[in-house]
Amino acid sequence: MKYMNLGNTGIEVSQIAFGTWGIGGGIVWPDMALDAGHVRALLKEAKDLGINYIDTAPVYGTSMSEKLLGEALKGQREDFVLQTKCSLNWRGDGGNYHYSRDGVTVNNDTSARAVKQDVEDSLLRLQTDYIDSVVVHYVCKSWPVEETMGALQDLIKEGKIRAIALSNSQPEDLAEYEKYGHVAAVQEFFSLLSPFHGYDYFENCRRYGTTFQVYGALEEGFLTDPAFVDKEFPAGDVRGKLPWIHEPIKSAIHTLFDETLTPLCEKYQCSYANLIEAWTLKQYPDLNLLVGFRRAETMRDTVKCFDIDLSEEDCLLMSEKAAPAQVPVLDK
Ligand SMILES: NC(=O)c1ccc[n+]([C@@H]2O[C@H](COP(=O)([O-])OP(=O)(O)OC[C@H]3O[C@@H](n4cnc5c(N)ncnc54)[C@H](OP(=O)(O)O)[C@@H]3O)[C@@H](O)[C@H]2O)c1
Repeated sequence: MKYMNLGNTGIEVSQIAFGTWGIGGGIVWPDMALDAGHVRALLKEAKDLGINYIDTAPVYGTSMSEKLLGEALKGQREDFVLQTKCSLNWRGDGGNYHYSRDGVTVNNDTSARAVKQDVEDSLLRLQTDYIDSVVVHYVCKSWPVEETMGALQDLIKEGKIRAIALSNSQPEDLAEYEKYGHVAAVQEFFSLLSPFHGYDYFENCRRYGTTFQVYGALEEGFLTDPAFVDKEFPAGDVRGKLPWIHEPIKSAIHTLFDETLTPLCEKYQCSYANLIEAWTLKQYPDLNLLVGFRRAETMRDTVKCFDIDLSEEDCLLMSEKAAPAQVPVLDK
């Protein structure tokens, strides 16, 4: 495993982070029911592989991801850098409508009151007295940044959180937030099929010493297997909402696999996931690769991406051949 600093906080994190949206289940990840025992086994695998950085959020499975992690982390909390999020909540006590799912209405609220309550709620569910990093899940302009950052800085002073991060934000948001304290990381969508937002962001991350944490590099599995685009997903499943299952992008993805990714996997003797991960890691040096896992096998395979010495030429070839399938913006 490779390790890096989380922004300039001095917190050392594995370059591969364990994403736990999927373990929350619910209508968006309906095909695998997990319990705390399973999550404990995943944490053991992570520890064995050197992955110490875990990402969750209150809304993943409407609290289920945090609750399962809280149970599974008992007795080993100190072994991990634990990251959760604030701003999206279903308390019904304010904020802007964000979505309705699994029988609840989720609002986005970056007021000081809401952010502080979010953190208190997460501390309870995660059964811990501190969270290493708290991400503003959806940056919004309805409350002053000074107010949101003020609340997060108070939480740092109180010892309840150690670092602050942003998600679903723009490079200019990072500049604004940095006026009121350090933003250790931005967690943003970035993949071979949708790289433009990341490319726009890298310069500001470099300027502020902020880690660029990628989510969705494997596109929820679509970049792990050419058969994925032909699958049928039940209503509500996050994978059925992505643009990859619709023409003409679907055919463009098949062509990308047939003409470029499959021959490269043969050349490097690796899985599709590893090829995509190696490409992702080459895009920006201070990049943290947040990958979702519900199975130990996929976690074990993923860490092999560090063994691939992807040439500059092949990296450029992948970017060039992916162009017909690319989309500018994604909302997951
Ligand atoms: N800030 C945000 O708004 C936001 C949005 C989306 C996601 N996220 C975070 O980012 C994390 C990652 O995103 P994601 O989980 O949506 O998607 P992802 O990482 O692109 O894909 C996850 C899927 O890829 C599969 N996979 C992983 N490694 C594999 C391998 N080596 N071979 C084959 N399949 C492999 C997993 O399989 P198994 O499930 O079978 O193990 C899982 O189904 C989330 O869990 C969450 O923590 C944040």
